[in-house]
Amino acid sequence: MRIQLSSSQFLASIVRKHTTNLHFTTTIKTHNPSSPLNTDANPSSTPEIEKKHVHRVYDAIAPHFSATRFAKWPKVSSFLNNLPSGSVILDAGCGNGKYLGLNPNCFVIGCDISAPLVQICSDKGHEVLVADAVNLPYRSAYGDAAILIAVLHHLSTEHRRMKAIDELVRVVKKGGHVLITVWAVEQQDRSLVDKWTPVMGEYVVDEVKEFGSVCQQEYFVPWHLPYHRAAAAAAESGDSVESGFGRKDDRKGAIVYDRYYHVFCESELERLICGMKNAVIVDQFYDKSNWCVILEKT
Ligand SMILES: C[S@@+](CC[C@H](N)C(=O)[O-])C[C@H]1O[C@@H](n2cnc3c(N)ncnc32)[C@H](O)[C@@H]1O
Repeated sequence: MRIQLSSSQFLASIVRKHTTNLHFTTTIKTHNPSSPLNTDANPSSTPEIEKKHVHRVYDAIAPHFSATRFAKWPKVSSFLNNLPSGSVILDAGCGNGKYLGLNPNCFVIGCDISAPLVQICSDKGHEVLVADAVNLPYRSAYGDAAILIAVLHHLSTEHRRMKAIDELVRVVKKGGHVLITVWAVEQQDRSLVDKWTPVMGEYVVDEVKEFGSVCQQEYFVPWHLPYHRAAAAAAESGDSVESGFGRKDDRKGAIVYDRYYHVFCESELERLICGMKNAVIVDQFYDKSNWCVILEKT
């Protein structure tokens, strides 16, 4: 059964009551985290490392990223497919929207910080808006379930990671489930880690400077954008090599962009969640180099 509701009705029914100035007729709805909508204090403004090494990178690689991201992860698929018909599901950091249409019996609405990725989702007919997972523009207790797949590891402070989890729990109903997955320090293919660059210098976040880190958890993970794709992107957004944002790798025939990751240790997700008063962990597992939890809102 697919329930029919027009885009504007659907979006209007889920965003926070005070967001009446949003324009539902535009293709992409943008939620500006620093706008007056941001009444729930954002832990801090977006750190530079996320602006440059997460947001700008996904914007620059969006079409290539989308073209290479179609395989659906079985654990996410089974979570979504097991939800009751008619459920409202919120996908924060939805990327190219590969999970948005997965269960045709549910309403799925996505958001992502990257406007080009949101545009790609929108072009496929999905309900999406541009928003920061740390400050979701949805009303409290609206969704039946929420997912945050491979997003939390792009947030560069523990405060922001906790706030993103809080936000997901806030937007689901009591009894609603939230699935979160993150990259693990414990990678099955260790040779991959050798290709990553430990984050050093100006970007080492304060909490690491202050407390030190038992193991390396902050990395730049390269994204290789083939020259022909980079040329198309440059036509729209200027030359990223000249501006020092990307670098050329002639051997690979690609522009290399560094994506920031905070990879999670065993039990780290659990530790972030254990202090929450309104959620409990109902399942947790390690799968394909990811730590995963399913929370239930209490
Ligand atoms: C590895 S991709 C995962 C995409 C999708 N969840 C999936 O599983 O295919 C990470 C996504 O997180 C988004 N992202 C990063 N930081 C974000 C933030 N603060 N708020 C919302 N989305 C964010 C990126 O733009 C990107 O689309």
